[in-house]
Amino acid sequence: MKITAIILAAGKGKRMKSNIPKVLHKISGKEMLSYVIDSVLKVGINDIIIVCGNSFNEVSNFIRKNYKKNIKIIRQKPLLGTGHAIATVIKTGVDLKSVILILNGDVPLIKPETLRKMINIFTKQNCDGIIAVSKVKNPSGYGRVKTDIDGNIIKIIEEKDANLTEKKIDIINGGLYLFKKKILSENIFKIKKNVIKKEYYLTDIAEIIAKTGGILRPHMMDEAEIKGINDRIQLAEVEAINNKKNLEKLAKNGITIKDFNTVFIEDNVIIGKNTVIEPFTVIKGPTKIGPFCNIGPFTHIRPNTIIGKNCKIGNFVEIKKSNIGDNVHIAHLSYIGDATIGSGTNIGAGTITANYDGKKKNKTFIGKNVYVGSDVVFIAPVKIGDNAVIGAGSVITDDVPKNSLAIARQRQINKNNWVIKRRKRK
Ligand code: UD1
Ligand code: MG
Repeated sequence: MKITAIILAAGKGKRMKSNIPKVLHKISGKEMLSYVIDSVLKVGINDIIIVCGNSFNEVSNFIRKNYKKNIKIIRQKPLLGTGHAIATVIKTGVDLKSVILILNGDVPLIKPETLRKMINIFTKQNCDGIIAVSKVKNPSGYGRVKTDIDGNIIKIIEEKDANLTEKKIDIINGGLYLFKKKILSENIFKIKKNVIKKEYYLTDIAEIIAKTGGILRPHMMDEAEIKGINDRIQLAEVEAINNKKNLEKLAKNGITIKDFNTVFIEDNVIIGKNTVIEPFTVIKGPTKIGPFCNIGPFTHIRPNTIIGKNCKIGNFVEIKKSNIGDNVHIAHLSYIGDATIGSGTNIGAGTITANYDGKKKNKTFIGKNVYVGSDVVFIAPVKIGDNAVIGAGSVITDDVPKNSLAIARQRQINKNNWVIKRRKRK
């Protein structure tokens, strides 16, 4: 089946109260819009059109930077609703395939499997369109879906237009549609401007199609998957759903996560089997952590970090953009940034790589089997050779050759009986 996907991303996103376009807000470290595009690409649909509004430049820059694929971007101006967005696309005369998949750019958790399922049903069933719906506990904010006795969709009523009985309908529109191109283009211009919102609702097409004898089938989905994001509360809810999904995936792959409520692991994080993640740990991507490591509690691992096998990264340790070898221990209270640490090295409690000189970030290289005492500061750029030992409390400004001991602190002075002498002086 030849399909064109149209992703609606032009809305003002007013309810987000943000300068950033709504669809570029991040969920687990990845832009909302990318979730939608990636799912579409995963089912093999390469003909993609994104409808943008005022944030045309930001969104097209983002697409150009992150996708090599030829994704078309069409500007909708003025912004007169989802129906108007589709009408704008059709009016440009852009080449469209015989089936149109429409996705809301603010419904990011759609799984590729679901899209595949919907497409399969569409091929087999003799219908004009399929609309993803969900039975939910709290339908407020969503369009309510009305069906006839055969289960065909006959109308979608938006929250603002719904009367009290309609408001009680708990089947909602998921914002994901498949239409025959012919049916869509024949009916899209019949949509009338809504008197309350002064917008053309795409959802009004359901009644128009049904009234002319067209068949629209609902496709029931899980509520979590079609959760839309209109404000920052929903953004947090979707983030929580996605985080749980990430943790479950890791757990199924042999990683122990002690507490699903306080561990946050972004997309694009790879963790080896038999690693244990203790509570209150945040791991951002892209990051790779080897097997048999012990991470946390209270650990913050930031992007571009690679950690080898069998490491211990303990409490109050932050690691950023660093490459950590196998069997490394960084067990307590450390900041490691822009550093390379060789295998078998032990980093004492409170050790810090001072990577920033006020202007730029500098690198710290620590060799293999190095023993770093507690409370050491490495003033980067600096290199420590293999097997070196660094005395506790040292501020290391110069390179340390391999097999050497470096101590960079004042010697201790003991003044015997100083306390007694002071007392006598008084
Ligand atoms: C929409 C649906 C609602 C459904 C819900 C699912 C309509 C009229 N209502 O409501 O039935 O339950 O999604 O999440 O479609 N957009 C444009 N151009 C515009 C307006 C919006 O491209 O002129 C884009 C937005 O960027 C957004 C998507 O369309 O990605 C949906 O718009 P939004 O305003 O969020 O609609 P909802 O109120 O969520
Ligand atoms: Mg929405």
